[in-house]
Amino acid sequence: MFITFEGIDGTGKSTQIGFLEEFLNGNKIPYLSIREPGGTDFSEKVREILLSTKSEISSIAELMLFEAARADLCEKVIQPALDKGIVVISDRFYDSTTAYQGYGRGLDINTIQKCNQFATQNVIPDFTFYFRLPLEESINRRNYREFDRMELAGMEFFGKVINGFEELAKQEPERIIIIDAHKSREEIFEEILSKIKSGINEFGCYSCECRNPGN
Ligand code: TYD
Repeated sequence: MFITFEGIDGTGKSTQIGFLEEFLNGNKIPYLSIREPGGTDFSEKVREILLSTKSEISSIAELMLFEAARADLCEKVIQPALDKGIVVISDRFYDSTTAYQGYGRGLDINTIQKCNQFATQNVIPDFTFYFRLPLEESINRRNYREFDRMELAGMEFFGKVINGFEELAKQEPERIIIIDAHKSREEIFEEILSKIKSGINEFGCYSCECRNPGN
């Protein structure tokens, strides 16, 4: 099963990823937790370039770099793990590219979606949890730290990114589950878990290698 977490920074994604890791550990369910961009030697190097405030990158080059990092990660890490029946959790995946490079930077959405499919060789998350929170609130919640290159893009940019996630959630309501980030951590985790448990029944047993539905 492949589970991704999406939304702008400061919405509580990382806390929930931590809760999910604890749950999977506690239940001895094999999993792999990654974040994008990153996760392979090559992708970590690309991450440095992408997030460094010293880099000046054109929007198309930025898109290609996110996709390059993703292609390496998918081929070497995500697909092999899924093939073994390991649960893969990712902090961001291709919906971030559609939201940030497409809606945010204004690149053509259809082209981006084709790039997403090509880079992933059609890996699609089973569930994507989109953390919804108004921009002002997400900014208030962020711990003070230096902004990375993407975060320096400004308020107008992030407004467009949020708009992008909202559009994606409308287009794929089965896959993209909207999480109201105002709710308590506990309530949110319950929602996430119940969705994932329904998925485990549907997709097979992930706590052993049999992968028989319902086992
Ligand atoms: P990171 O610190 O990992 O993000 P966060 O803590 O906000 O989840 O930095 C990743 C940044 O890159 C983040 O601002 C979102 C952006 N991004 C894109 O613009 N496009 C993408 O395809 C991905 C995966 C991330």
